Amino acid sequence: MSVPAIELRGITKTFGQVIANKNVDLVVNRGEILSILGENGSGKTTLMNMISGIYYPDSGQILIDGKEVVIRSPRDAFQYKIGMIHQHFKLVDVFTAAENVILGMENEKYNLKEAADHVRKICDQYGFELDPEKKIYAMSVSEKQTVEIIKVLYRGADILILDEPTAVLTPQETDKLFAVLRRMRDAGKSVIIITHKLHEVMSLSDKVAVLRKGEYIGTVKTSETTEADLTEMMVGKKVSLNIDRSDPNHPQDRLEVKGIDLVSPEGIRILDDISFTARGGEILGIAGVAGSGQKELLEAIAGLQPLSGGEILYNNPKTGETENLRNKTPLEIRELGVRLSFVPEDRLGMGLVGNMDIIDNMMLRSYKKGRGIFVRKQEPRELADTIIKDLEVNTPSATTPVRRLSGGNVQKVLVGREIAARPTVLMAAYPVRGLDINSSYTIYNLLNDQKDLGAAVIFVGEDLDVLMELCDRIMVICAGRITGIVDGRSAKKEELGLLMTGKEAEDE
Ligand SMILES: Nc1ncnc2c1ncn2[C@@H]1O[C@H](COP(=O)(O)OP(=O)(O)O)[C@@H](O)[C@H]1O
Ligand SMILES: [Mg+2]
Repeated sequence: MSVPAIELRGITKTFGQVIANKNVDLVVNRGEILSILGENGSGKTTLMNMISGIYYPDSGQILIDGKEVVIRSPRDAFQYKIGMIHQHFKLVDVFTAAENVILGMENEKYNLKEAADHVRKICDQYGFELDPEKKIYAMSVSEKQTVEIIKVLYRGADILILDEPTAVLTPQETDKLFAVLRRMRDAGKSVIIITHKLHEVMSLSDKVAVLRKGEYIGTVKTSETTEADLTEMMVGKKVSLNIDRSDPNHPQDRLEVKGIDLVSPEGIRILDDISFTARGGEILGIAGVAGSGQKELLEAIAGLQPLSGGEILYNNPKTGETENLRNKTPLEIRELGVRLSFVPEDRLGMGLVGNMDIIDNMMLRSYKKGRGIFVRKQEPRELADTIIKDLEVNTPSATTPVRRLSGGNVQKVLVGREIAARPTVLMAAYPVRGLDINSSYTIYNLLNDQKDLGAAVIFVGEDLDVLMELCDRIMVICAGRITGIVDGRSAKKEELGLLMTGKEAEDE
């Protein structure tokens, strides 16, 4: 048996009170793809940052080819042929791919032509599609990621670490990336990929290492495990990953969005002629690459973005009247009798007030202007306690300032409050981001309950599998335009992926 390319022994890292990694062991061989699997906050990024020289462990050893090494900086890491592709890219927008690749290299003559040729050679070798002369600002997210990977390969990396690379990719782009990573493995490189998507782990990796709350749970061979087993390792107990999608409940046109346009103060078109109808008793999913206008669309409906064109009509189920919500403030919208709930992407700030405690954050919504909007005027204290109990919010008490809660718990408080308002329209942008798997499924099922109660639910999601399991219809947007609206029950992932990259549906 040959020595591993890289081995970690008993790595521990703390940040103040937080134990990010506790006694973690890891082995990666040459010609092997290892997945690091774990829920949000389980310590995946921290662990990899210690291999790539961003952080230094409190204790433990790192061995390269069987010899203990000290890695104190990214430069040290490169010396050992370790390269990491971070979640957030560090490219210079006005430079070309080739310029970015050679940027910051020592002892390298600044010869752009040679660099471009070298980049082309790397592309051919591993099957990347990239124009070395293209400027970063003209690139898609996937192309930018390719530049980051090539940058690392150009420096001769033999051990590649990728931190959640597929979070920003369409299914087609993910397939392409995986093909490239398999080629790297076959060429004898070691690939470590962080993800929390089980089906990716199963399709790509040779081995899986699982972390849970900073603890190292174990490493298993992918061929000898199942998604259910891996989930159990990740979560610590058996969980049912099941969404009970009901049939639409007497759908009625609730919200009619007609040709809305939104132009940013800088003159950039963010929403372009968006038209769709959200129906009560139905969940409408919105899919798209992050930053395609999803956030602004929901904010526009909620009265938080001034539109440059179009209309937003609300059919009030109580009065039968139709109201135009265009360019109304959130308060004006509420005063029209519209029961609109919104879980924005920006939880603290737009959603909750960090310095106020959970109870006061309940009042913020319900008792504004003295008007209770909760059915039976549930007391804020009682509501706070109910949410804490039902959604398992981890907080010392209901009087704890919201800013002291972790991101996932803040999210639960916000979702709980918005649902308690008994909305007729419920909009949620990435409501499970940062939540553990159990809580995520609790939220999905809460959205489904709201649909059954007749709300028009608009759900912006990032996981296509979940969108296809939860939604009645899925609307895809790309660069501020709707590229298609498909039936959630018959939608195909490939089809959604194509729409996400801007290929419009034939019959739309
Ligand atoms: N620089 C830091 N300062 C303080 N706490 C941190 C820092 N980086 C990570 N943490 C904490 O360490 C834990 C693990 O985080 P991370 O490694 O980012 O998890 P993952 O990548 O699995 O989501 C979390 O509780 C996180 O809040
Ligand atoms: Mg991470």
